[in-house]
Amino acid sequence: MKNMLTSEVQAQPASGTRRILVAYFSWSGNTREIANQIHKIVSGNLFEIVSVDKYPSDYDETVKQARKELETGCRPQLVSEVEDIESYDVVFIGYPNWCETIPAPVASFLSKCDSTGKTIAPFCTHGGDRLGRSVEDIAKLCQRSTVLEGLAVRGSEVRNAQGKVSEWLRKTGVAE
Ligand SMILES: Cc1cc2nc3c(=O)[nH]c(=O)nc-3n(C[C@H](O)[C@H](O)[C@H](O)COP(=O)(O)O)c2cc1C
Repeated sequence: MKNMLTSEVQAQPASGTRRILVAYFSWSGNTREIANQIHKIVSGNLFEIVSVDKYPSDYDETVKQARKELETGCRPQLVSEVEDIESYDVVFIGYPNWCETIPAPVASFLSKCDSTGKTIAPFCTHGGDRLGRSVEDIAKLCQRSTVLEGLAVRGSEVRNAQGKVSEWLRKTGVAE
């Protein structure tokens, strides 16, 4: 076991017989808010994806770094991993839309995760571009899994998104 579980919290039995993981990356807190809302409904385990090298606190600097990471296909090292990732049936993956796709730490997480046979449920927060091309990019990294229709919530609306979140969960069949 390598430095695992340090950001995995609130281990609980998953609903039904499925094991559910709610994994997310968040730079300024919006995606964390949605991850918490989903976790409240579906239970399972909550895991924060954290890059070893911290992002700048300045917005423009972070955009600059994100663009560079995208151009170079960088896969930053993560602080911790999920123990027994293979045992999960459903993986929710949450992220802010960065440059119209997933942030590099999310690409690191997905490329290390063997998603064979899993259901992947993407959710993002954004500043206007909704999911961008993130779901297509996730599908490329998770070719042996079923990638569901993603949820997009505008960053400024995350605190009032409970209805939208529940509706998406019902529609995708992940929660009743
Ligand atoms: C580096 C960076 C790149 C971004 N790129 C986009 C983008 O291409 N399209 C968009 O709609 N929003 C973009 N945003 C806005 C974020 O997606 C939005 O504010 C999100 O809710 C932030 O989530 P967080 O608080 O979980 O980090 C970007 C923000 C950052 C910091």
